[in-house]
Amino acid sequence: MNDTDRAALTTYLNSIEDRSRSCIGYPTNTDFDFESIFPLFKHPLNNVGDPMVGSTYHLTSTSLELEVLAFFADLFGAKHGEWWGYITNGGSEGNLYGLYLTRELYPKAMVYYSEATHYSVQKNIHLLNMPSIVIRSQANGEIDYEDLDHMIRMHRHLPAIVLANIGTTMTEAIDDLSGIKDTLKKNAVTNHYIHCDGALAGSYAAFMEPRPAFDFSDGADSIAISGHKFLGSPMPCGIVLVKKRHRDRIARAVSYIGSMDTTISGSRNGHTPVFFMVYDKKAWP
Ligand SMILES: Cc1ncc(COP(=O)(O)O)c(C=O)c1O
Repeated sequence: MNDTDRAALTTYLNSIEDRSRSCIGYPTNTDFDFESIFPLFKHPLNNVGDPMVGSTYHLTSTSLELEVLAFFADLFGAKHGEWWGYITNGGSEGNLYGLYLTRELYPKAMVYYSEATHYSVQKNIHLLNMPSIVIRSQANGEIDYEDLDHMIRMHRHLPAIVLANIGTTMTEAIDDLSGIKDTLKKNAVTNHYIHCDGALAGSYAAFMEPRPAFDFSDGADSIAISGHKFLGSPMPCGIVLVKKRHRDRIARAVSYIGSMDTTISGSRNGHTPVFFMVYDKKAWP
């Protein structure tokens, strides 16, 4: 690197240091210290493929990824041996994954989501070319169960995919899975799927009192959370957890990576699982 380049980088670094002193959130948590794992940035970590299958590439952090996934699967009431997941690039990818599974499961289904839903959901629905209906929100941002009931009744001949917000972007409103399930039952819709967008509040909802109905034990089929928002990390990341049988339907083997193609991107960030892990083991390494 020549002197001009070095000076340009120093100026950039100083400006970021300056700006982060007055940054209180986006939402992103800036209160973290990952200095202990800086040596890992000398290595091209890549968790290519399915974390539960492994691959022919060995500079991975999949063993840590699995530990992180197991922690959240347990926190989210997933049944032992019946869940699957991976560490994503953020909330939008987790939502894309949930919707992708639903489209493969129920190609003719209708997707229902409230008007307070994050823009990534509408974009993902567009990418997947799925029909959808926007449901009214209540004043607090929570889905309007009466409007949901009305719309589901009008399309009760179709499988229903409900996108529940576990913390809306603007008001942190949480859609109640028991209310959603009651509506599905009332309308005798037996083919249904509930994806929870927990990008905002999913990582702490389990610790709230009273605990909201938002996880697998409450009827979720998949849950996406964010790592860089509430927890905090130097780069965007998230987690998607799904019922394993849903993932099995889309899995296909790819011989040259020695793994199953079950994730949205092939190459995956191998450093982000370590950030989650550092939270778990305060003094690590
Ligand atoms: C409720 C909700 N869902 C999804 C997202 C998208 O997350 P990401 O920016 O990590 O892709 C956000 C981001 O603010 C959000 O607030």
